Amino acid sequence: MGYQAFDQYASEYDAWFLENENVLQTELRLVAESLKDAGEILSIGCGSGLFEKLLQDQYSIRIKHGIEPATGMAEIARKRGFDVEINTAEDADYGIEKYDTVLFNGCPCYMQDLGAALRKAYAALRPGGRVVVIDIPKESAYGLIYNLVLATGSWDHPLVEGCQPKDPYPVELVKQANWRTTAEKSAIIAESGFSDLVYKQTLTLSPHYSHTVVEDPQDGCDRGSYVAIIGYKK
Ligand SMILES: C[S@@+](CC[C@H](N)C(=O)[O-])C[C@H]1O[C@@H](n2cnc3c(N)ncnc32)[C@H](O)[C@@H]1O
Repeated sequence: MGYQAFDQYASEYDAWFLENENVLQTELRLVAESLKDAGEILSIGCGSGLFEKLLQDQYSIRIKHGIEPATGMAEIARKRGFDVEINTAEDADYGIEKYDTVLFNGCPCYMQDLGAALRKAYAALRPGGRVVVIDIPKESAYGLIYNLVLATGSWDHPLVEGCQPKDPYPVELVKQANWRTTAEKSAIIAESGFSDLVYKQTLTLSPHYSHTVVEDPQDGCDRGSYVAIIGYKK
């Protein structure tokens, strides 16, 4: 199961992001842009609530409820003041027509059955609501280097040497992930009932240089290593 490593590495996850302030802020800008006028928000796989806290403090965007399976992560989120249920996206009960937005930030790659979660998200949304699915596309520069590290087993392999991000993401967390292409996620989102899909992207520099600047999000999905797919419930 993809979340067990997060129990073990909960504090390392936050520490990694806090060391990579520019990457964190770049990703945060994409999340904030995708959550403009988002109403009442349910955050699935909310982890330690790191993004949720920054969304609140920097953008006045509040998350109403979170669902997170790794106890170690959920406990940090609760300490940050969030209302978090410990459960997987696939098993949790999201309720019916309770929210205006359901957010999946950085967690789809760890989920076994993304379709099951998206169907629950559809039911949990009020008409006109949106789902925001944000992750690293398999075909992006980060997706490719993470899969290379998965194949070589280490950031120290000669094939990876000289290409790494400044502080590589812990290999234990890379090993748990299954990155899907944007096309694959779009198909699952559409099959779950959502329409009018919109794409926003960021982290467009090569991974080796992405720590050097904070990027603003752009429209589309053709160059970003962090892509938001937004779908609407009619
Ligand atoms: C990369 S972290 C992202 C956390 C948070 N959304 C953020 O952006 O900081 C991925 C999270 O997905 C969670 N996760 C893994 N499997 C999951 C599942 N089946 N359902 C929901 N969340 C899951 C992990 O426990 C972890 O907290």
